[in-house]
Amino acid sequence: MTIMVINGPNLNLLGEREPNVYGGETLQSINVQLAEKAAGMGYEIEFFQSNSEGGIIDRLQEARLNCAGIILNAGAYTHYSYALRDAIAAVKIPVVEVHMSNVDSREDFRKNSVIAPVCLGSISGFGKYSYALALIALDYYLGEKNERD
Ligand code: DQA
Repeated sequence: MTIMVINGPNLNLLGEREPNVYGGETLQSINVQLAEKAAGMGYEIEFFQSNSEGGIIDRLQEARLNCAGIILNAGAYTHYSYALRDAIAAVKIPVVEVHMSNVDSREDFRKNSVIAPVCLGSISGFGKYSYALALIALDYYLGEKNERD
């Protein structure tokens, strides 16, 4: 089974971007650690990052063809992209919303997620471990789904 990890705008700058909020590790370094964890759990993993809304939506749509689940940090698109929300609703595979920072403890505009209602669930505030926690959550969900099917 393959898990797709999608990172949205400005997450390519992790390591140099607001390290007091997002920590000092690069996205590449976080992805390497996540890939090791995924391999240990028996998953294939694919990574994609884009600063553009359309690029993220295209990749989400493609993922529906070969992925069992998606881990998505949509960055600021989280808070206002109805197009992204519609794409998540359309793909019918579980999407876990991820944020490294605790979005509820920050500016008011970050407290609203337009994608949350169409995601399986949301994980926020655990830094790089938010991605690993999303993977564990998907693993539980997919395991139970296999038992149901
Ligand atoms: C973020 C939180 C968003 O509000 C912000 O726009 C980001 C990163 C996070 O990982 O904490 O770009 O998704």
